Amino acid sequence: MLQSCDTMQPQTNGTNGTMSSSILITGGAGYIGSHTVAVLLEASTPHELVVVDNLSNAHREQGQKKPESLRIVEELTGKNIHFYDADIRDAEKLSEIFNKHNIECVIHFAALKAVGESVDKPLEYYQVNISGTCTLFDVMRKHGVYKLVYSSSCTVYGEPRKLPIDEAHPTGLGLTSPYGKSKYFCEEIMKDICRSDPKWTVVSLRYFNPVGAHLSGRIGEDPAGTPNNLMPYISQVAVGRLPELQVFGNNYQTSDGTGVRDYIHVVDLAAGHERAVRLLQQPGASGFHAVNLGTGVGYSVLQMIKAFEEASGRKIPYKIVGRRPGDISENYADVSLSHRLLGWRATRTLEDMCRDTWRWQSAHPNGFKS
Ligand code: NAD
Ligand code: UFG
Repeated sequence: MLQSCDTMQPQTNGTNGTMSSSILITGGAGYIGSHTVAVLLEASTPHELVVVDNLSNAHREQGQKKPESLRIVEELTGKNIHFYDADIRDAEKLSEIFNKHNIECVIHFAALKAVGESVDKPLEYYQVNISGTCTLFDVMRKHGVYKLVYSSSCTVYGEPRKLPIDEAHPTGLGLTSPYGKSKYFCEEIMKDICRSDPKWTVVSLRYFNPVGAHLSGRIGEDPAGTPNNLMPYISQVAVGRLPELQVFGNNYQTSDGTGVRDYIHVVDLAAGHERAVRLLQQPGASGFHAVNLGTGVGYSVLQMIKAFEEASGRKIPYKIVGRRPGDISENYADVSLSHRLLGWRATRTLEDMCRDTWRWQSAHPNGFKS
C-alpha cells in the first residue's frame, strides 16, 4: 500500500480536470534535494513537485506526515509539496506514483553517499545507487517519461590529469570506492540508454563540493553521525559538538600543503538544477549531457578553516594528521560548459558559503531533530 500524504486520486488542476504537469524528485528530502525543491518553488516553477524519499537519511518528527526539511520549505514558500515515503527500488510504488501524477521529468538525487561506508557495504551501495536507479529508469520508460536530471559527482574523474577539470576529462579511472564507481557506472548506463533510444534526454550534473545552506538558515546539511566531509565537520566544531578538526595531510603539492577543492554553495547548485530542467524541455536537446557544477576556484583546508572562523567568530581548533586514504590532492572545475549549455554560473562567494552554513548550524546545533 502506498504510504503518502496525498490520496490516491489522480491530481488535477481543479479547473478543467486536466492533470498538472509535475517534476518527480527522488531523494528530495535530503540536503541538496530540499534546497532544489526550495529554489524551484521560489522560482515559481509551473510544475507540481512530487518527492519520493525513503527517509533513510532525512528526519521526520513523530506525528508529522512530511520530513522536516520539506515541511519547512512549505512554510518558507507557502507552497505544497507532494511527498511519498517510498523506496526507489520499489517498482510497484513508483508506478503508482507515476499513475497518479502527470510526471514530465525526474530529478534523481536518491542515493547512499558515504564514501567510507561504501567500502564496507558495497552491495548496499550498488543495490540503491545502481539497481534502484535502473528500477527508476525502467518505470520512467514504462510511463513514457524520458527526461532526467541526474546527481553525479566530480568523483567520476578520479585523480585529475589536468586542472581545471573539464567534461572531456576521462572518467572511471582509478576510482577507489564503490560509491564513486556507482556514480560512474550510472553515467555509463545513462549513456547506453540514450544511445538505444533518442527519446531520452539526460543531464548528468557533476557536482564539485556542495556546502552552505538556505539563506533563511532554516534548512541545511544534517549528516547522520560524525560528518565525513570538511564543512559540516568544521561547523560542528564551531558549534561545540566536536572538539577539534583533523586536517588530513599537509604535504600535498598545493599552496599550503593541504587538500584543495572547489566548494560550491548549495543554493547555486540547486539553481543549476532549475536550469537543467529548462534544458530538458528544449527541442533538440535529446541525448546524454555531462555538465560540471562548480565555481572554478579551489580553496585549501586551511583557507576553509580561516574563512569559517571569520564568518562565525569562533576559533576552530585543529591538528594535522596523516593523509586520508583515497584522497586526491587538488581539484576544481572548468565551468565553461555549464555557462554555455545551461546559462548558469555560481554567484555565491566563500564568505556566503561559510556565513550561511553558520546561520543554519548555530540555530540548529543538532540539525533537524528537536
Ligand atoms: P542526502 O543523503 O542528504 O540525500 C539523499 C536522499 O535520498 C536522502 O533524503 C535519503 O533519505 C534518500 N534516499 C536514499 N536512499 C533512498 C532510496 N533507496 N529510496 C528513496 N530515497 C532514498 O544526500 P545529498 O548530499 O543531498 O546528495 C544528493 C545526491 O547528490 C546523491 O545522489 C549524492 O550521491 C550526490 N552528490 C552529493 C555530493 C555531496 O557532497 N553532498 C557530492 C556529489 C554528488
Ligand atoms: N578533510 C579534512 N578533514 C576532515 C574532512 C576532510 O582535512 O575531517 C579534507 C580532505 O582531506 C579534503 C578536503 O578536506 O582535502 C575536502 O574533503 P571532503 O570530504 O569534504 O570532500 P571530498 O572532496 O574528499 O569528497 C566529497 C564527497 C565525495 C564527492 C566529492 C565531490 O565525499 O563523495 O566531495 O563532490 F564525490
